[in-house]
Amino acid sequence: MKKILVTGGAGYIGSHTLVELSLHNFYPIIVDNLCNTSIKNIKGVEKITGKSIPFYNVDCTNEKALNNVFEKEKNILGTIHFAAYKSVEESVKYPHKYHSNNIGSLQVLLNVMKNHHVENIIFSSSCTVYGNPDVLPICENAPFKKAESPYGKTKQLCEELLNKTDILGISLRYFNPIGSHESGLIGDRSSDNPNNLVPIITETAIGKREIVTVFGDDYDTKDGTCLRDYIHVVDLANAHVKALQYVMKNKVKSAFNIGTGNGVSVLEAIHIFEKVNNIKVNYKIGPRRDGDVEQIYSDNTLSTNELEWEAKRTIEEAMSSAWLWEQQKQ
Ligand code: UD1
Repeated sequence: MKKILVTGGAGYIGSHTLVELSLHNFYPIIVDNLCNTSIKNIKGVEKITGKSIPFYNVDCTNEKALNNVFEKEKNILGTIHFAAYKSVEESVKYPHKYHSNNIGSLQVLLNVMKNHHVENIIFSSSCTVYGNPDVLPICENAPFKKAESPYGKTKQLCEELLNKTDILGISLRYFNPIGSHESGLIGDRSSDNPNNLVPIITETAIGKREIVTVFGDDYDTKDGTCLRDYIHVVDLANAHVKALQYVMKNKVKSAFNIGTGNGVSVLEAIHIFEKVNNIKVNYKIGPRRDGDVEQIYSDNTLSTNELEWEAKRTIEEAMSSAWLWEQQKQ
């Protein structure tokens, strides 16, 4: 049995990854303290896969409790570490909270893995590690520039920590994950998400918000609004399976970009959403947001060649599933 311990498995990307793991004959075990999600995501995964999944309500900074999970489960083959705080805005207010939780939980997990001779880890990183990039599309060997936020800094420090340990690991640098599983049963249940563009679009479309404010239209881009690389969360989840298979086979440490390679503007994103779902979204142009990067999108050469992974779903599919989730989530 190929047991994979998934921290933060009840979260947005974590829950989608549980589904992909099950589809590929891995046997996931969830560790999550549910501090920013709901057990409903676990129930949703069980409904989608038809399998029950062991779940431990444990905080990853609690070494003793995490150690007990490893002892109880035995023969864990690898881990995927999602559990972390993720709000950029909150991290500016409480940098210490972000530092201690995000770095602390990885450190504890690595200690426990070492104690139990578990060799492989996949780490949930972000394109935010690049800061404001000089060259686009961005490659994995681009230098880490100054982090735009304390949250971004924690991702940089975690990657550095992984480079120093002797445990084998892959950092997956996510671009902008959007959308949900086609069933509408799992999705982003965090309370800090509505700073991100797509949840703001869907909440405006359904009437929870009056209007989307586009943060600046005077950037040096095709229509003046920022460019991002929006990746369907199911494709992103699948990259974790590929990364696990890769690290187990090749026994290396590495980092991979996980994006589509396409730069999509804020206005394009809004218009695609409107077209696919046949619904109007109120929006207005507002001032720039502090700390925003003008444009960033992925060079996927390495993940395509090495991981043999590619994004298969379109942004249209992602926008349609995002709308389904907004209407259906309970
Ligand atoms: C942000 C973080 C990134 C983090 C990610 C996690 C910054 C600078 N980056 O990415 O580190 O990994 O969230 O979720 O904060 N936009 C609007 N109006 C809105 C909301 C967003 O115009 O109401 C625009 C933004 O200016 C940006 C794009 O939409 O150009 C995407 O924004 P968002 O979804 O917040 O993601 P990022 O800023 O790319």
